[in-house]
Amino acid sequence: MEYCFFPLLILLIIVTLSNCEATCNQIVPLNGNPSIETRVSIGECVAFQCTLNHIVQWKLNGTDISNDDIHYNINTTSGTLTIQEVRSTDTGNYTCGLGSVSLIVQKPVIIVTGQYINLIVGSSVSISCTTMPSIHNSEVKWHSSSFNSDSNELIINPVMLSHNNKIFTCVVSSDLLAMSLTESITISVD
Ligand SMILES: *[C@@H]1O[C@H](CO)[C@@H](O)[C@H](O)[C@H]1NC(C)=O
Ligand SMILES: *[C@@H]1O[C@H](CO)[C@@H](O)[C@H](O)[C@H]1NC(C)=O
Ligand SMILES: *[C@@H]1O[C@H](CO)[C@@H](O)[C@H](O)[C@H]1NC(C)=O
Repeated sequence: MEYCFFPLLILLIIVTLSNCEATCNQIVPLNGNPSIETRVSIGECVAFQCTLNHIVQWKLNGTDISNDDIHYNINTTSGTLTIQEVRSTDTGNYTCGLGSVSLIVQKPVIIVTGQYINLIVGSSVSISCTTMPSIHNSEVKWHSSSFNSDSNELIINPVMLSHNNKIFTCVVSSDLLAMSLTESITISVD
């Protein structure tokens, strides 16, 4: 009996997925007021609603945007411009007809957790690096002059006197960022 539901379930998943492509929770209507400002985090979805009875021509900082179906989706019927995964370079003024909105793409902050000062020789430490909010598919690694981690976890085991004053840098890279985000820490050993 359960097997009867299988094709139904798959159909449901396909319908849900194709709907997700077109829907975006944050829809900002443009109403001719030039001072609308929208703040969105990197990787989020945002949609702008054109004030209709104009030809639907979206512009970013005065330059025409074309529908590429990858980054920009423009529905000429509804007048909606959808950006599925906002990048840092999407910051700017979006206009359509007499409407205008200023999009500010917010970069996440780097959060370092774990102890890295007053370390005791012979102990072991684990220092992790994350971003808040997190960026989907980003790469987080630690670097120093003589070391590259393969994860967001920096493990020092055992701590030695020679680690004192060593600088480690957390590097967050993503296709959505124009430049990697970095945060450096200085180890201190007692
Ligand atoms: C964006 O729009 C605001 C408000 O209309 C304006 O003050 C600002 O100069 C515009 N910036 C650009 C880059 O067009
Ligand atoms: C475009 O918008 C219209 C009106 O809201 C809607 O009926 C149509 O399904 C949309 N097209 C796409 C491809 O999403
Ligand atoms: C648009 O203008 C803003 C404000 O001057 C600027 O920060 C942003 O980089 C510009 N964006 C593009 C894609 O030119």
